[in-house]
Amino acid sequence: MKIPVSLSTAFTEEYESTLRQFLLTEEMIPDETALENDRFLTRSVIPHVEKLSMLFNRLEHEEVDPDAPPRKPGSPHKQIAVKRVKTGRAGLDPYWKESSNPENLRLAYFMSFMPPNQARVASVLTELARLGFRFQPIPNFRGIEWGAGPASGACGVAAAAVHSEIGLPRTGNWALIEQDKKVLGIGERWATTYFSSVGLDWSIRPFHRKVDWTRPLLPQNAPTFHLWLSSYFLNEVEIPLEELAERMVDNWEFHLENEGLAVLVEPALRLQSRRLLELRKHLLVEFEKPRRKGKYQVLTPCLGHQACGALAAPGDWCHEEITWWRPKYLRKIDELAGLDRKTLPFSYLVVAKSSRTREELLPAFGAHKTDRLVSPAHKEGRDLEFFVCGEEGKRRTRYRPESDEEYDEIGRGSVLLNAELRGDARASRVDRLDGII
Ligand SMILES: C[S@@+](CC[C@H](N)C(=O)[O-])C[C@H]1O[C@@H](n2cnc3c(N)ncnc32)[C@H](O)[C@@H]1O
Repeated sequence: MKIPVSLSTAFTEEYESTLRQFLLTEEMIPDETALENDRFLTRSVIPHVEKLSMLFNRLEHEEVDPDAPPRKPGSPHKQIAVKRVKTGRAGLDPYWKESSNPENLRLAYFMSFMPPNQARVASVLTELARLGFRFQPIPNFRGIEWGAGPASGACGVAAAAVHSEIGLPRTGNWALIEQDKKVLGIGERWATTYFSSVGLDWSIRPFHRKVDWTRPLLPQNAPTFHLWLSSYFLNEVEIPLEELAERMVDNWEFHLENEGLAVLVEPALRLQSRRLLELRKHLLVEFEKPRRKGKYQVLTPCLGHQACGALAAPGDWCHEEITWWRPKYLRKIDELAGLDRKTLPFSYLVVAKSSRTREELLPAFGAHKTDRLVSPAHKEGRDLEFFVCGEEGKRRTRYRPESDEEYDEIGRGSVLLNAELRGDARASRVDRLDGII
């Protein structure tokens, strides 16, 4: 996914200094050298980073990305293989309280998982802006983040608001919903600090509650929201996905503003990514129901309502990836914990509550047919080979770029306009196209 350069560097010195000051004010770190102090990090932070990584399925079990390029002889990684453990979802729920040292667990999450999730959410919004999406003029912006933790998602939206032209106003309010009171408190204060550090006059209303999907999520007199957001939250929901889809849209009917967006960001792992794809499938069924018909549109990554190309093949899944400049201290944490977060993978889905056409919502495409690259592109002689997903499903495809710029431009997340595809899903070729976005 292409993100603005200013966003890719938005998490460096200034950000680190705001975060350090916040940690000091909150008395979450002992002094201002703590972020560089190996001893402090190793004793107080890294064990929790490792534990959380296990919980979030980042370590140990090897999963192979089926869309990654084949190994060149002698290269150390055959495919982009990530080591992860599958712990199952049931164990995640009480994790804030389970620790023998909950303060350090919260510190570890805040330092190590909040900034990457913030960057992920920001990139989903800047991608929409890149494709021409603009919020309709909003006098009084209202967002809601579910399972907000330390408000990673709301802060991600703030980053997108200042690093893109998506049309979010400088004034607004966020409702944060979170089951853990202490983490919610950190989220409330961090979001307030971060918003003001980037010049946004956005306020926060924290709601300490456990979301129960079997009941209406909000009281009837609760307002509508322009942005409905969850980040790394739905993978913790225990009800069947069909029911979740129905409940979700029921709630959007009353509490998502017309022309508003629902943004769902989830892990890139196969199991969790497939859950999101399944959820999309059930959402599409909901959108076809007579009382909802024509009111909702899947915008990204799919750019339409076609059957999911990845879900069609058992074992396949769909994810994006961004490259960013990590805060310096996070590089150190990664070194100490054996993680490598130079790139951030994730899965996502954006739904618009709108009757407008895709052409109106994502004007960058005009009325063109679109095929999105859902894998990296690797060279095969003078061709590039990659997987695309579009109206004709998911296909392994080759294309011979016409210039060096095109070679550089094409990568995961690029969209081909009016590509004429010859062949079948296993091997096709782009004979011609009208553009690359
Ligand atoms: C993995 S964390 C993600 C936090 C944040 N959204 C982010 O992207 O960094 C999931 C959060 O959801 C909260 N959560 C899980 N189930 C919940 C529920 N039923 N109601 C409210 N919060 C919940 C957890 O307490 C946790 O803070």
